[in-house]
Amino acid sequence: MTVTVGIDRLGFYTPQLYLDMTALALARGEDPAKYHVGIGQDKQAVIPPTQDVVTMAANAATQILTPADLADVKMVLFGTESGIDNSKATAVYLAHLLGLAPDTRAVELKQACYGATAGLQLAADYVRARPAAKVLVIGADIARYGLRTAGEVTQGGGAVAMLVTADPQIFALDPISTYHTADVMDFWRPLDRTEALVDGKYSTNVYLDFFKETWTAYQHQTGRTIADFAAMVFHLPFTKMGRKGLRQVLPEATAAHQQELTAAFEASQLDNRNVGNLYTGSLYLSLLSLLRHGALRAGDRLGCFSYGSGAEGEFYSGTVQPDYRRGFDDAALTAMLTNRRAVSVAEYESIFQQQLPNDGRDVQLPVGTDTAPFYLAGRQHQQRQYRRR
Ligand code: CAA
Repeated sequence: MTVTVGIDRLGFYTPQLYLDMTALALARGEDPAKYHVGIGQDKQAVIPPTQDVVTMAANAATQILTPADLADVKMVLFGTESGIDNSKATAVYLAHLLGLAPDTRAVELKQACYGATAGLQLAADYVRARPAAKVLVIGADIARYGLRTAGEVTQGGGAVAMLVTADPQIFALDPISTYHTADVMDFWRPLDRTEALVDGKYSTNVYLDFFKETWTAYQHQTGRTIADFAAMVFHLPFTKMGRKGLRQVLPEATAAHQQELTAAFEASQLDNRNVGNLYTGSLYLSLLSLLRHGALRAGDRLGCFSYGSGAEGEFYSGTVQPDYRRGFDDAALTAMLTNRRAVSVAEYESIFQQQLPNDGRDVQLPVGTDTAPFYLAGRQHQQRQYRRR
């Protein structure tokens, strides 16, 4: 018997502060149109020191887990490339904060922005073998390039939480996906650094090459063509990147279908435009954005391209399920995004420098206006102090 598996519920959290890209452009002596049109970003999440990938993941996961799920979830796969410890997994902190049972398997997965896709596919295979299982998959990151760098306009942060089950409400995964790995130095973060190193233009070319590679292999393996897809969903380090990806395949579609694919892409980048890059979570925020703002029908097939620098790419697909709108809280997500407070460039620059100092000393963080359910209160004896309101 074939078991249908996929994403049953989707949660998303980003902090309550953002930076307007017009303000950043003016402060950096750039034409605002470069940021809004050339890069395709309107707002960027600003991450206060009281939030890290663990608290953001907990704030996303708590939106989608019922008390029954807390007993049922027996595996947590946490994709991140901005983890908080070189040894202990973020997933272990998260399982504790959420109150998951001790007989839970909890691990962290790292391959740049690809980690959550690795988690999703591993979870799907696990559930295919054990249809009663529920797996919590996380993509959570803080994208940091540094003040006054070319990558600054592509920063951001947040967390996506996905519950992977049999007979999913939102998105049923097709069993075939294609992937591609090559040892490439387009973006990396050595152990001594809190900001990424990146060969920006090169990274965009590698992204497009990997998309072409995996999409071509997918078509060979499945016999499907662009005509089989209602939308292409992309990892969006900045929204122009996905637009470039889409442009690569649009000529394969009829004129009418090109319009449909373009309209779907516009829907899929709306939320990312206002949050920025969340590395592992970006593809899944884009999927959520399409589900929220697009004109999808049950049975529509979506193609998803995941890319993690360094580099790993994967193209996979799935079909939209009839009750997909019940798998996320649309009104709450809109409220979270619209109720954020704009910070000035000076305030953003100050917050950017307020990360936990890397000398290990005890720190008590000012909670300030952070009202999220989970937050970081500080560090004592080299241990992060997490709190729940
Ligand atoms: N009005 C409209 N558009 C304008 C403009 C204006 N006044 N001025 C410039 N532009 C356009 C440019 O024509 C260009 O468009 P195209 O790419 O379509 O040609 C675009 O704005 C960007 O301008 P530049 O080429 O001058 O770019 P830049 O030197 O400022 O750098 C960047 C852009 C390379 C993306 C840089 O922001 C960066 O390094 N970002 C981080 C790396 C990254 O995100 N890479 C993506 C692939 S890697 C990945 O996906 C993994 C990951 O998450 C990091």
